[in-house]
Amino acid sequence: MMDRHPQNLLVTGGCGFIGSNFVRYWLERHPESRVVVYDKLTYAGRQENLHDLWEQPNLSLVVGDIVDGELVRRTCQEQGTDLIVNFAAETHVDQSILGPLVFTDTNVRGTHVLLEVARELGLRLHHISTDEVYGHIPEGHQSVETDPLAPRSPYAASKAAADQLVQAYHITYGLPLTITRGANNVGPYQYPEKAVPLFSTNALLGEPLPVYGDGRQMRDYAHVHDHCTGIEAVLLRGEIGEVYNVGTGREMTNLEMVDIVLETLGKDRSLIRHVTDRPGHDRRYSMNVDKLRGLGWAPKYDPRQAVAEAARWYAGNRWWWEPIRSGEFREYYEKQYAERLAGTGRA
Ligand code: NAD
Ligand code: TYD
Repeated sequence: MMDRHPQNLLVTGGCGFIGSNFVRYWLERHPESRVVVYDKLTYAGRQENLHDLWEQPNLSLVVGDIVDGELVRRTCQEQGTDLIVNFAAETHVDQSILGPLVFTDTNVRGTHVLLEVARELGLRLHHISTDEVYGHIPEGHQSVETDPLAPRSPYAASKAAADQLVQAYHITYGLPLTITRGANNVGPYQYPEKAVPLFSTNALLGEPLPVYGDGRQMRDYAHVHDHCTGIEAVLLRGEIGEVYNVGTGREMTNLEMVDIVLETLGKDRSLIRHVTDRPGHDRRYSMNVDKLRGLGWAPKYDPRQAVAEAARWYAGNRWWWEPIRSGEFREYYEKQYAERLAGTGRA
């Protein structure tokens, strides 16, 4: 298989967690290419995620919404884009339960608009999806790329709809499209609404860790670095029109993840609080990643190392998360956790 080398990337959502890790990784590995980050800068989009890179001549930022087709089209034309990598999304399941409509706006309509621009300008588009589109996976099965989609949260449903649009555009218009479905990522610059950074920063603050339900739900906690190498493998060697799962292929319970966080940070298990479960909470995600391995890719981190590395990053980078935790995030935290934590010992 010949390597393809895209030169001018439009990275939507490049100021978010995975997008910024990808931009950092890509520019290190492909310094000859140019990256335009296209980002709406929602609460999860943070320019400081790329704080040390903005001076580079081959990186720039366009602040915009992926739903704004006119701006996306103009940006691609002006920048000579040959590849759109779509990370832009509303991404948190709990937020999708509190306020679902914006998930449809960005994740479904936004992706559709990007597909229209790709169609008009003849661009390649790589779409970033999630294992959540497969829904709850019973013990004994690992999702493969051809499994039916069975999303169960508003977030997962919006991502599944986007995947189906991408696949329909490949079939109908023959556009050069690919999809990766990532497992739960952990690592630097993940907004502290997600479990691992929430638990790490709570532990560092001496706050209780709100574990939903019995904590025996299972997730494949994959290091974001391995997601980035997986996306790179698909961009360079993946088959057009295909979907690739990206994860470690091994899962652990949330309680095991919490133990790794607490052990890494030298904190006590007495911080754990079992709180009211998330409605519709998927018990288990698990993916088979052999198809991506077939492109010569392999993960560098096992899930235990990934979670421990992530917890260590939050311990060493208070400059990044303290302003978030003391700012707008507090309102969301109150709404999501005050009632859940009341009566569990300490709110
Ligand atoms: P994130 O929430 O950290 O970042 C999302 C980024 O998208 C932010 O920079 C935000 O400003 C931007 N954005 C949101 N709406 C936009 C819009 N309408 N127009 C332009 N930009 C917009 O998300 P993340 O965790 O980095 O996830 C990135 C992608 O990976 C998403 O598509 C997500 O579904 C997928 N994914 C995430 C995980 C995970 O564990 N975090 C796992 C698998 C797949
Ligand atoms: P999260 O990081 O929100 O990812 P996802 O729901 O997309 O898998 O949550 C990871 C797991 O941790 C999931 O099973 C829900 C659980 N969780 C808690 O137990 N407590 C929390 O406060 C959060 C945010 C998540």
